[in-house]
Amino acid sequence: MKTVSTVAELHQFLHNHKSLQSIGFVPTMGNLHTGHISLVEQAKKWHDVVIVSIFVNRKQFNQALDYSNYPKTFEQDCEKLASAGAELLFCPEETDMYPEGMAQSTIVVENTLTHVLCGATRPGHFEGVTTVVAKLLNIIQPDSVYLGEKDYQQCLVIKKMINDLFIPCQLEIVPTFREDDGLAMSSRNNLLTSEQRQKAPLLRRPLAILKDQLLDNSENIEAQLDQVKTEITKSGFKIDYLECRSNKDLSEYESGKDIRQYRIFVAAFLGDVRLIDNIRVV
Ligand code: PAF
Repeated sequence: MKTVSTVAELHQFLHNHKSLQSIGFVPTMGNLHTGHISLVEQAKKWHDVVIVSIFVNRKQFNQALDYSNYPKTFEQDCEKLASAGAELLFCPEETDMYPEGMAQSTIVVENTLTHVLCGATRPGHFEGVTTVVAKLLNIIQPDSVYLGEKDYQQCLVIKKMINDLFIPCQLEIVPTFREDDGLAMSSRNNLLTSEQRQKAPLLRRPLAILKDQLLDNSENIEAQLDQVKTEITKSGFKIDYLECRSNKDLSEYESGKDIRQYRIFVAAFLGDVRLIDNIRVV
């Protein structure tokens, strides 16, 4: 696997591989786990070349501490990507991605899907995500970009940005990779103490039960959500949100609609660590 850190080097690589038919791209912030590797493996099935980026994008962190605490494991990440068969790793510095400074950079704002869920509780987060992903897609010009379903709102936001800006790239959403106990894989899991790690799967379990209940009866949805909120809180979490929203446009569930077109979204803190998950009601 070749590693490059500047846009010029990346363009040189693309120039040298002009004859390649297609490029699959996996954007990451590093601290790679099996979920990230599954994105690389999926991309490898469909493309001649798989490019992965590692860039901890300060612009999408709404809290300085969250940014500075973000786990960094560059050596191990490189080993994992090389054994997964990625051809190129792009790991730019902040000055490569924001040459005139972050505050001076043009920003990309998606304005319909970003006011709810993580957008409501992490102001500025999605603006940072769309800005950096637009930059990366313009630099790399991949045929497809691969993202994980765990960040489902992020997937919808990026899909909308790609469509709105006519970026010639396909978005592929890869199912959430889970630990044996059901916890969605996330770089933030590494920040949990061992006691918190044991509790963490208790975030997902009630969602699976709620999903089955909603398939039987989607009336009184607020009361059902409240019951699950109480349960999750009793397990030691501080709830950020627990909502049932459309799989397509994140609108709220309305009585009489087909519940199978909806998804339950959760974000909750265990200590200072914020975990998210979601489950489709099917
Ligand atoms: O999901 C992530 O890791 C990040 O939001 C992304 C897509 C790499 C943009 O920084």
